[in-house]
Amino acid sequence: MYAEKVLSGMRPTGRLHLGHYHGVLANWIKLQHEYPCLFFVADWHALTTAYDEPGTITQNAWDMIVDWLAAGVDPSQATLFIQSRVPEHAELHLLMSMMTPLGWLERVPTYKDQQEKLTHKDLTTYGFLGYPLLQAADILIYRADKVPVGEDQVPHIEFTREIARRFNHLYGREPNFEEKAKESVKKLGSKRAKLYDELRTRFQEKGEDDALEQAKALLNDAQNLSLGDKERLFGYLEGSGKMILVEPDALLTAASRMPGLDGQKMSKSYGNTIALREDEESIRKKIRTMQTDPARVRRTDPGDPEKCPVWEFHKIYSGEEVKAWVQQGCRSAGIGCLDCKQPVIEGVLEEQAPMRERARMYEDDPQLVRNIIADGCEKARKLAQETMRDVREAIGLDYS
Ligand code: TRP
Ligand code: SF4
Repeated sequence: MYAEKVLSGMRPTGRLHLGHYHGVLANWIKLQHEYPCLFFVADWHALTTAYDEPGTITQNAWDMIVDWLAAGVDPSQATLFIQSRVPEHAELHLLMSMMTPLGWLERVPTYKDQQEKLTHKDLTTYGFLGYPLLQAADILIYRADKVPVGEDQVPHIEFTREIARRFNHLYGREPNFEEKAKESVKKLGSKRAKLYDELRTRFQEKGEDDALEQAKALLNDAQNLSLGDKERLFGYLEGSGKMILVEPDALLTAASRMPGLDGQKMSKSYGNTIALREDEESIRKKIRTMQTDPARVRRTDPGDPEKCPVWEFHKIYSGEEVKAWVQQGCRSAGIGCLDCKQPVIEGVLEEQAPMRERARMYEDDPQLVRNIIADGCEKARKLAQETMRDVREAIGLDYS
């Protein structure tokens, strides 16, 4: 049976933190057991906004890949690669740019949003406008079925579906498809041809699914038909012709439950993160100095966990028993905040222990990472090249 494919990409932002782990990576790690997965570094996408600071991209990419591996993304299960190492993405992007109406790109909500947010940058560029189209190329070139992304990316997946549909509509037909289809219908013999036409009309005009099924059965039974004729008539039935690019679905990633050290969303720009491969001492210190319920000025003042970011960490790292101990001890001033933080420190360190071990292996031998990526790029490239062959042929650019 055909296995559905999962694909996702991440811009190379450098070292990842617990927010990335509890949001995106934990999901990737789960998916890699369930589907063939492709995960890649979207370095060209990083350039759309960092075109004037290119020096950081490669180091950020390697750091991020080590974090993927440290977190448990498994290169023996998933294919890991770098976008710019598979230049076919650029070719598909270019070819699709020929048929992409400007208005579709201008209407993608992230276009105006980001321009308004990143005011220090000139984002009135060709490349930035094309960001969603490049993303569409990333997805369509692997004929990916499912794309795990956060909510903010859903419009990009919707856009990708529209582009795939437009592409199939424009190029999924042979030249003179209609005429050739009519010729093929005649080959059915007059009685069957008449029935086929009737069933096709009923399906196309009234959406009668059983008419479609009957017509398919009729084609399957038709023995005097060549394979080419048969396939053409299957295509003609549903009106489209050939499906060259596959419309993907978004697999919505639940927002990370991981709050930052100050209770806001964990984010590098807020300076409230714990990195995935952070020094143990630094983690202890960060948690020990975390803000708590401001009502607890003195050790004897009772507090309210609901007003404390440490409690948010307990929700992720502690079992029922510890959580009950926190609730009771905080409200009665029975425990101090440092006592309360100790199980959180242990929880975070315990979660990171296997990550730190895996990371050390890759830090000690960077060639290991290079090999994993070289291997992944080669696999990805084979798939991309297959699609590009079909795409060039459909557009009429196969000079063979
Ligand atoms: N735009 C995505 C983000 O910012 C990254 C990305 C690029 C991507 N290409 C992709 C995600 C293809 C999924 C599929 O998060
Ligand atoms: Fe927060 Fe725990 Fe201190 Fe209560 S006891 S304020 S939950 S750190």
